[in-house]
Amino acid sequence: MRQFSDYLQNNKRAKIKTTVITAYDFPTALCADECGIDILLVGDSVGTNVLGYNDVSQVTMDDMAHHVRAVARGARRAFVLADLPYKSYTTVAEAHKNALRLIEQNARGVKLEGELDVVDRIEFLSKENIFVCGHIGYTPQTKGGKPAIQGKDAPRARELIQSALALEKAGACMIVLELIAGQVAGEITRLLHIPTIGIGSGPACDGQVLVLHDMIGMTPQRYKHVKTFGNAREELKASLRNYAKEVRDGTFPAVANTPLMPSEVFDGVKEWIESGLEG
Ligand code: KIV
Repeated sequence: MRQFSDYLQNNKRAKIKTTVITAYDFPTALCADECGIDILLVGDSVGTNVLGYNDVSQVTMDDMAHHVRAVARGARRAFVLADLPYKSYTTVAEAHKNALRLIEQNARGVKLEGELDVVDRIEFLSKENIFVCGHIGYTPQTKGGKPAIQGKDAPRARELIQSALALEKAGACMIVLELIAGQVAGEITRLLHIPTIGIGSGPACDGQVLVLHDMIGMTPQRYKHVKTFGNAREELKASLRNYAKEVRDGTFPAVANTPLMPSEVFDGVKEWIESGLEG
């Protein structure tokens, strides 16, 4: 844990941005790892992006354990960070038990949502030498509904700043700032020694995270805070349409895709069939 926290803090001091992307399975973990992404976040957004749930509050510890295992198999170098799902850290004891379960599946750290209300859990996990990432601002597990920008008024901005400082003091190794007004995210970043990872919180953060499916253009809906770097949904659909067309019109499989036996062997098989399958 120490080593990776030091790496992150050195990056912060050197103004090297930390890159984080969600990953839910082996092939995407492998791709992100090969592309030099620092952290693969097995987010509870797996629920809505992969499992077809209506919202992330439906994600269970079993879901998380299953996906963490798959991602960890693809992470050769990148750090695997796993979300503690909704209601899996309501007490310190539960947070500890469930964090250990995800670490057994080869997560190297855990993330949990909350502000001053989760300080005791962050403090405990950190004392147990577990890498813990905080997550403040818009917190999908509890706020649900329509995402709303946080910290646009002074009282909420002060609350967010105080929470960030308290989580750092409690031992958090980094903090995700989700949908926080850019100036407030900038001040939190300036005040903390640990890195801030922004999502929809502007460029001042020490690093960025996006949901992979949003970023590659797989998610049908578009969000203001997301830049779409690809067109995966349309590319996937074009491939599937072509596949279905070629199967239907007989173009695929072609001879090139067909395994063949030597023709003299086949001639013998044909003779045997024509002789009434005798001998
Ligand atoms: O689950 C997730 O994808 C997240 C990111 C939005 C930070 O927590």
